[in-house]
Amino acid sequence: MERSAASLLWFPVDRASSISLTIQVYEQVRRRILQNELNEGERLPSSRELASSVGVSRNIVLEVYDRLLAEGYLEVRPQSGTYVAAGSHILSEAAQDRLGEAVAAIGRPSPLVDTIDFRAAHPAADYFPRAVWGRLAREVCMDTPERAFGYAKPEGTAELRHVLARYLLQARGVRCHPDQIVVTSGATQALHLVTELLAKDKQARIAVEDPVTDEMRTIFSYAGADLLPVPVDDKGILPEKLPELDRPDFVFVIPSHQFPLGGTLPIQRRIQLIEYARRMDCCIVEDDYDSEFTYEGVPVHSLQGLDPERVIYVGTFSKILSPALRIGYAVLPVRYVEAYRRLKWFADRHTSTLEQLILARFMEEGYFDRHIRRMRKIYRKRRETLVSGLRKHLPEAHILGESAGMHLVVEFSDIRFTDKLMERIRVEGVQVYAVEHYVLVKGRHEHQIVMGYGGLPPEAILEGVARLAKAIRPDRPPSL
Ligand SMILES: Cc1ncc(COP(=O)(O)O)c(C=O)c1O
Repeated sequence: MERSAASLLWFPVDRASSISLTIQVYEQVRRRILQNELNEGERLPSSRELASSVGVSRNIVLEVYDRLLAEGYLEVRPQSGTYVAAGSHILSEAAQDRLGEAVAAIGRPSPLVDTIDFRAAHPAADYFPRAVWGRLAREVCMDTPERAFGYAKPEGTAELRHVLARYLLQARGVRCHPDQIVVTSGATQALHLVTELLAKDKQARIAVEDPVTDEMRTIFSYAGADLLPVPVDDKGILPEKLPELDRPDFVFVIPSHQFPLGGTLPIQRRIQLIEYARRMDCCIVEDDYDSEFTYEGVPVHSLQGLDPERVIYVGTFSKILSPALRIGYAVLPVRYVEAYRRLKWFADRHTSTLEQLILARFMEEGYFDRHIRRMRKIYRKRRETLVSGLRKHLPEAHILGESAGMHLVVEFSDIRFTDKLMERIRVEGVQVYAVEHYVLVKGRHEHQIVMGYGGLPPEAILEGVARLAKAIRPDRPPSL
């Protein structure tokens, strides 16, 4: 048989990438075939030649050729070689290019690998109670009756809902029967389902604090709702600014520690909010995601406790324990319980039973309270480190919202955190977050940044503040 000349083939591979060499070689050859760079009927180099030109082992190339053969991109002609099969290219090259680039980018390391990231609401992963959790997981796995390994009810396990109802009453003044609780996959799902419950299939309106977290804003806007921004000050939402003409379907608030400004809503405003909801006949959705970490005074009880039939209370274990658990919950007025359970069933049937049972034991046996007390001390220390670092390097900074949570806001009256300045800060190896990023109405918070400290050890916090000072006050000599 006639043997045509084999194509010359070379491409780079990235040995530092997390993508295996086999996949990289496969993607490169496949992309060339799809894009007609290797034409129909063209002979490929032998496995030995390609392995040597690219610098990988011959076994890798053999594996790639086998896979491409099995998928129909190649054909073997006996005693001749391996050829590109007919009909194996497509015309839409642009899409393939983007795919190739995206695949290549997955394994690429970030250019600023040692960036100190003051991301808000990230808990201290290094303090997750691994040993206790591991032991309880084993116990649950061994002692739990078989029925727990089947499908369960959408509202979650009775064990977790009972212990949670008790905890919420004692710690947060939430008044509910365990049957009013639906365990969800994080507060994110809880809020998504609340939006479906109250704001679906109509031109819904949701009144939100402005600024508001981008995750929650995305959930609401994705559902097609119009967002009605309500300004906040250092204590939280300003109820007198709630819309009087456009009735919202619900008001979304974080009264115990407004995100990102950090205010704790005083009782007078809480009462005003409830009165507003009664007057407008709408619900209030209270997100209480990090209220366990209060450092000054006594934590203020939930809004839900003031009117359990008007307020949907949403909580999460992501900040107290870990976002990896994906366990949150909604506490619902009785009239919404059935419909909400149905929505949860449609979403994912139920949250992992085993994980719920471990958590229930963790709470029942007192580890949860102990963990909160321990984490409060750790976050207090991290907060003090951040505040003292700011006092040292940037004494003119005005600090807001430092009495709770895992982040605070820093304001500089003479600095506007423009995109250009944010980039300069990033290049200095530190990531902070402009409050303007979270706003709906632009221009009111240009002088403020959010700095989360929960996930950073004290040395990183101090180094991060020094880098921040260098970026925003380049002419100032560094403090020693
Ligand atoms: C305001 C707010 N609530 C709750 C959460 C927690 O979400 P989840 O419980 O899904 O992890 C977040 C996450 O960043 C948040 O920003």
